[in-house]
Amino acid sequence: MNNPFWWSADEKFFNNCLSKTLGVPVPNTVLLPSYERPDDTSEQSFRNLKYPTDWERIFDYIKFPAYMKPHSGGGWKSVYKVTSPEDLWTKHAETGQLVMLLQEEIVFDHYFRCYYLAGDRVHIMPYEPRNPHHLRYVVDNPTKDKKLLATVEQYTKTLCRGLGYDFNTVEFAVRDGIPIAIDFCNPAPDADINSVGQANFDWIVENAANMAIEKAQNHKANQMNLTWGSFISDIFAPAKKPVSKKA
Ligand SMILES: Nc1ncnc2c1ncn2[C@@H]1O[C@H](COP(=O)(O)OP(=O)(O)O)[C@@H](O)[C@H]1O
Ligand SMILES: [Mg+2]
Repeated sequence: MNNPFWWSADEKFFNNCLSKTLGVPVPNTVLLPSYERPDDTSEQSFRNLKYPTDWERIFDYIKFPAYMKPHSGGGWKSVYKVTSPEDLWTKHAETGQLVMLLQEEIVFDHYFRCYYLAGDRVHIMPYEPRNPHHLRYVVDNPTKDKKLLATVEQYTKTLCRGLGYDFNTVEFAVRDGIPIAIDFCNPAPDADINSVGQANFDWIVENAANMAIEKAQNHKANQMNLTWGSFISDIFAPAKKPVSKKA
């Protein structure tokens, strides 16, 4: 599952930019230069990087509190909430050579994690990230707002088709009724029965098995069977336009 060639290029900043072009809202986000210079570079590297960093402009755009997280990461590793410039700089100094995103905080009314599987199979799970780990999928009175859930489902499909995932989770924080995509770069998402619970586990096992069977049955020898995002496949094989008869 999941195209290994695409996976090697997959990261959160590119995905955020693509999300905007696909019309799915994302938090205001900037990419920060790593605190330490990466191995295999010298003082002469990064000559196109403007220095000093225009922190004022960044803070005006992102505001505080904000989230700082690796541009390529997962499992909440090195995810920081920062409350002021000083707090940001102190925490940034802990991140070594990691390239971090700085992102506007979305203060949310609802939060969802959604499984996506090829064939447009979507399963929306109410999620409470402020609960302890084992209770995050236990949400009291989850919303039944049909319009909101339909938008969440549509955005999940749009993002995963655009990026070309067979298997992913997409997280949304809902602010003022608008789902904002927070984390949608999870090609090997948590599906542990101990965290997602029995019902979600049953859904993902059943549907992942059906997807795998479908893919095996549809496999065509000597042809490209990998999934490429619509964004990439449209660049390399644009939809054929009717050819005008007049020269
Ligand atoms: N911009 C944000 N606004 C509000 N909460 C956020 C934001 N970014 C991250 N979080 C919180 O931090 C958690 C971990 O961040 P996430 O982007 O999902 O990283 P990871 O890929 O490590 O899971 C999210 O589940 C969410 O609760
Ligand atoms: Mg996450």
